[in-house]
Amino acid sequence: MERTSKTAIGLMSGTSMDGVDAAAVRIYDDYNFEFISGHSLKYPDDVRTKLLEIANNNAVTSDICFMDFVTGKLFAQCANELIEKAGLNPKDVDYIASHGQTVFHIPEDKSIGNITAKSTLQIGNISVIAELTGITTVGDFRSRDMACGGQGAPLVPFADELIFKKDKNRAIQNIGGIGNVTVLSKDCDTFAFDTGPGNMLIDGVMHELFNLPYDKDGQIAAKGQIDNEFLNRLLTEDYYKKFPPKSTGRELFNDIYLQNILQNSPENKYDTVASVTALSAKTIADAYKNFVLPKTSLDEIVLGGGGAYNRTLKNLIRDYTQLPVKTHADFNIDDKYKEAIAFALLGFCTLNHTPNNLPACTGAKKKVIMGVVAYS
Ligand SMILES: Nc1ncnc2c1ncn2[C@@H]1O[C@H](COP(=O)(O)OP(=O)(O)O)[C@@H](O)[C@H]1O
Ligand SMILES: [Mg+2]
Repeated sequence: MERTSKTAIGLMSGTSMDGVDAAAVRIYDDYNFEFISGHSLKYPDDVRTKLLEIANNNAVTSDICFMDFVTGKLFAQCANELIEKAGLNPKDVDYIASHGQTVFHIPEDKSIGNITAKSTLQIGNISVIAELTGITTVGDFRSRDMACGGQGAPLVPFADELIFKKDKNRAIQNIGGIGNVTVLSKDCDTFAFDTGPGNMLIDGVMHELFNLPYDKDGQIAAKGQIDNEFLNRLLTEDYYKKFPPKSTGRELFNDIYLQNILQNSPENKYDTVASVTALSAKTIADAYKNFVLPKTSLDEIVLGGGGAYNRTLKNLIRDYTQLPVKTHADFNIDDKYKEAIAFALLGFCTLNHTPNNLPACTGAKKKVIMGVVAYS
């Protein structure tokens, strides 16, 4: 009997706010999948600036309202460009699954009156995407997990379990704006959490000191020396000591945070980039030591996300953990499109009415079907 499959497009934009990544994927009923093609759309500078203002709490409600539709249009454009590039017929794409653009995430309980809630907001309106692509679009994945007590993050471990078999004990370490790890081991249930900053502070420092968006291949960091006194001060941040489940974002590691750390940074700007790069690597290594190794040994690390291209960061992670460091590319998965693929898989479950959160990773009280649908 022929296997049935769906053709999907996953859309992702993370906390780096660099732009939209789209992955076309064929997904079979047994959850095996084939990557068809990927495409990225960089946010126009003005759009990125406005999104950063929103994420830094420096925007007004009308900005959020407007940018929901603006980003919806950009997500749709990215999907349409991918369809064209991959030579797909839009009619053959069964659905789009869009993470959206997180502009605010409050994973801890907050109270007003006598009401307590966790909350999150991803913009990139799915009705706009469905309209402009003509394709049924799934979005708003995180809310349902949070509605039942979860952190709404991380969601990608669901896909990690499908992609990697548990033949080795692995730390699947994504390095987007924030770093997050999924621990896949024979010795324990899958768990995951945000380790701390990934590229976010590196990008911020690069912007402030070099007027560049990021440290390409880690070349600037490689020219500097790590200032251990500065690094040790950065490591006193409380987030690193918190036990998982835990998640973080621009709400903590934002512009104010960046300006604060720059006040006491080394005189040599290359040393500042080297030290902030070391912060990402060290917090990853410390997170393994404190929260992973007590539960399971690790055989290797698999890096993903844009930070996988930062060679200085990769070398530091290897030095601090003393573990072999691979990337998704070693498993035939494009590091850039892995999270977009993950959302295509999550959307597959939504449309099949299959629970797709992992309570052990998010802290939710139960398994739920995440995702909301805008029909074509
Ligand atoms: N060649 C590269 N060298 C170093 N860093 C890179 C490179 N390419 C991308 N990056 C980093 O990756 C980030 C984007 O990563 P991404 O996985 O898209 O993160 P997010 O999920 O937060 O959007 C960029 O902001 C940049 O910091
Ligand atoms: Mg990105």
